Amino acid sequence: MQDLLTRTAPLYDRVRRVIPPAEWALFADDIEAILELKRSRNAVILAHNYQTPEIFHCISDIVGDSLALAREAQTVEADVIVMAGVHFMAETAKLLNPTKTVLMPDMDAGCSLAESITPADVRLLRERYPGVPVVTYVNTSAAVKAESDVCCTSGNARRIVEGLGSDRVIMIPDEFLAQNIAKETGIRMITWAGHCEVHERFTPEEIRRLRAENPGIVVLAHPECPPEVVAEADFAGSTAHMSDFVSSGKAAKVVLITECSMSDNLAVQHPTVEFVRPCNLCPHMKRITLPAIRRSLETMSHEVTIEPGLAVRARQAVDRMLAF
Ligand code: 13P
Ligand code: SF4
Repeated sequence: MQDLLTRTAPLYDRVRRVIPPAEWALFADDIEAILELKRSRNAVILAHNYQTPEIFHCISDIVGDSLALAREAQTVEADVIVMAGVHFMAETAKLLNPTKTVLMPDMDAGCSLAESITPADVRLLRERYPGVPVVTYVNTSAAVKAESDVCCTSGNARRIVEGLGSDRVIMIPDEFLAQNIAKETGIRMITWAGHCEVHERFTPEEIRRLRAENPGIVVLAHPECPPEVVAEADFAGSTAHMSDFVSSGKAAKVVLITECSMSDNLAVQHPTVEFVRPCNLCPHMKRITLPAIRRSLETMSHEVTIEPGLAVRARQAVDRMLAF
């Protein structure tokens, strides 16, 4: 055990501010095994900003928001992509780099937004609003993307919606994101009643209480939060935009109105910034653990596949987004 801890000490140094030594002792063996499996399988690990620090900082090759992970997935040269994120992210990677083996460590890592809408729902919306462009959040299945004109993420939603040049847009399935973008752009949105189960739980009262208890705090909110929560924040943006804001050094004390691990990961990189942490956990993101990643690489499971005809149509919507 002592040898293992000595060998992994340089990795532990990266995360010692947020992971106690006793916890690291439980992680070290899986971390070493995963690093060796990545070499033998010629694999890379893509990790979303909501992954826990030992995954985000110690075993991942590419990290970022949904947009960055999609962009980077296109140019991966390794044979295998392991998605430390949720299922729609793995599907997007497979759409954009179809010859690679894309693995999900846990197939049950879903998303309440992706669950909220089906391809049949999108077809009905098109029938009801003929000619109105359909902008679909990437937090959806490939089958829903295949029914859409263009995808967006929280990082590019405004640019995509404005770029369409239409005074009315069907923006699905995140009702709050659509309402927040409508407010910013003045474009009329036809929405769908999908919500992120993590961000919908934040309230304006919570933000006001945080401000009262922490004078001078800067509040950063994700646009999946309800509009009345975003209205109480100093800044709203994707997880990458929040990270950029913290990196800019504009705030000495911040609160991120988003998933819990985001603050832990940024605290590692910004030791002088104080983070107040009233967060909500995403149970789907938290299904991805070191043992699950290790098993995934050992057994080469669970492979993400997409029916080729559907993949062609879904990819068009993602490609249009990336071309913007
Ligand atoms: P972004 O990282 O694109 O901001 O999305 C957040 C999210 O909900 C991913 O699950
Ligand atoms: Fe889905 Fe929300 Fe979890 Fe992101 S944080 S995966 S949007 S449920």
